[in-house]
Amino acid sequence: MEQTLRQAAARLRDAGVVSARVDAELLLAHAAGTNRAELQRLALLGRRVPDSVLVAYGPLVDERARRVPLQHLTGTVSFAGLELAVGPGVFVPRPETELLVTLGVEALRGADAPVVVDLCTGCGAVALALKARVPGAEVLAVELSEHALAWAGENVARSGLEVGLRQGDARTAGDDLLGTVDLVTCNPPYIPLGAVPVDPEVRDHDPELALYGGSADGLAIPRAVAARAAVLLRPGGVLLMEHAEVQREALTRALRSAGVWREVADHDDLTGRPRVARAVRAGG
Ligand SMILES: C[S@@+](CC[C@H](N)C(=O)[O-])C[C@H]1O[C@@H](n2cnc3c(N)ncnc32)[C@H](O)[C@@H]1O
Repeated sequence: MEQTLRQAAARLRDAGVVSARVDAELLLAHAAGTNRAELQRLALLGRRVPDSVLVAYGPLVDERARRVPLQHLTGTVSFAGLELAVGPGVFVPRPETELLVTLGVEALRGADAPVVVDLCTGCGAVALALKARVPGAEVLAVELSEHALAWAGENVARSGLEVGLRQGDARTAGDDLLGTVDLVTCNPPYIPLGAVPVDPEVRDHDPELALYGGSADGLAIPRAVAARAAVLLRPGGVLLMEHAEVQREALTRALRSAGVWREVADHDDLTGRPRVARAVRAGG
């Protein structure tokens, strides 16, 4: 087994996969129908890989070497303690986005039956993680892409968590909720137009709609979504919006100058990079 893993990891490393050994292990675990910890235990015991597993493993390594995202091959991603279904047509949630969940739970502390709206929900990651942590919340998730929404539907069904799903534009959604929402979360598309991602997994497999923010600074869609959030939130309600590291100043400046927010602040992710803007709806 160790030799199989070494060969696969070397192949993936040659193809430019940074986490080559981890990916080799995760794909073998997937092919064997087990988890990585159990696979590592069997490797330590010197077990050989059954032929039936090798037959399934080879094509998976081939695909990964062609830079198909690991999560498209395993069909799942771990996010904030949930196992979510992902694949072609939906953005794969990133670990740094868990900061939206952490800050969202903080914002909801002590609230009684709060109303939460997750705009640009993709596979439903943030909405589902918030519902799992704050079961008393009423959580609604909005997504424009029907393909992404289908994955979100699958995740709602699998998790058994009661999250409402709506297909709609985050810039105009929620006419029935105006001024009633306690928390809006959003990880919008924010890559500047023309700034094509280097990693093939992102460039060739994440949907364009999930990536590009609609302007040279990448903030046209985030600004428009923040304006909608201001209309949805009650006075005192909280907006949490993810952004790229380099957008901290521009986004917080836009929020401050909009005239509808107070306590505009920004939070770093676990790697110390500026990641989430937080603002409280003024008025009331
Ligand atoms: C960066 S992805 C984030 C997905 C998910 N929140 C996550 O963190 O994994 C952005 C998502 O916004 C969706 N989207 C883009 N423009 C939108 C719009 N105007 N209204 C609603 N959703 C939109 C994309 O389809 C994509 O699913």
